[in-house]
Amino acid sequence: MSKKRISVIHGPNLNLLGSREPEHYGKMTLDDINASLKNRAKELNIDIEFFQSNSESEIVNKIQSLSTDFTIINPAAFTHSSVAIRDSLVAKNVKFIEVHLSNVFAREDFRKNSFFSDVAIGIISGLGAEGYIAALNFINQTK
Ligand code: DQA
Repeated sequence: MSKKRISVIHGPNLNLLGSREPEHYGKMTLDDINASLKNRAKELNIDIEFFQSNSESEIVNKIQSLSTDFTIINPAAFTHSSVAIRDSLVAKNVKFIEVHLSNVFAREDFRKNSFFSDVAIGIISGLGAEGYIAALNFINQTK
C-alpha cells in the first residue's frame, strides 16, 4: 500500500498556544503539538504537513489546494462561524477529522454549534493535544 499523506490545519489564535488560556488549551505550543504529530507520523510511516492561519480566506485557499488523503482540522473560532470553510471541505471531498483541544460542549453555548461536525469523519473534543494523536492513529488504521 502507498504511504498515506495527511494535512493538519490549525485555525485562528492557535499560533498562541502555550500562553493562550492554558486552563482551556493546555501548555503545549503549536510547535510542540506539530512535533509530537510528526514523531507519531514517522512511527506510522505517514507523510504529514502542517498549516496554520488566522485568516478564513487563507484556510479556504489551502483546502482548495489539498491533495493529501486525509486532513485533521481544528477550525478554532471558525468552527462556529464559517460556512466558507465548510463549503470548501465539501467541495473538495476532503476526508477530515475535526479536533478541539477543549471540550466545546462544556463551555459557552455558542461553542456547541459546529459548521463542520456533520460532514466530518468524526470529532474529538476535550482530549487536549492527545486528540490530534488519536486522530492520527485513527487515520492510520482507516482505508
Ligand atoms: C477550539 C475551541 C473553539 O471554540 C475556540 O474558538 C478555539 C479553540 C479548541 O481547540 O478547543 O479557538 O477549537
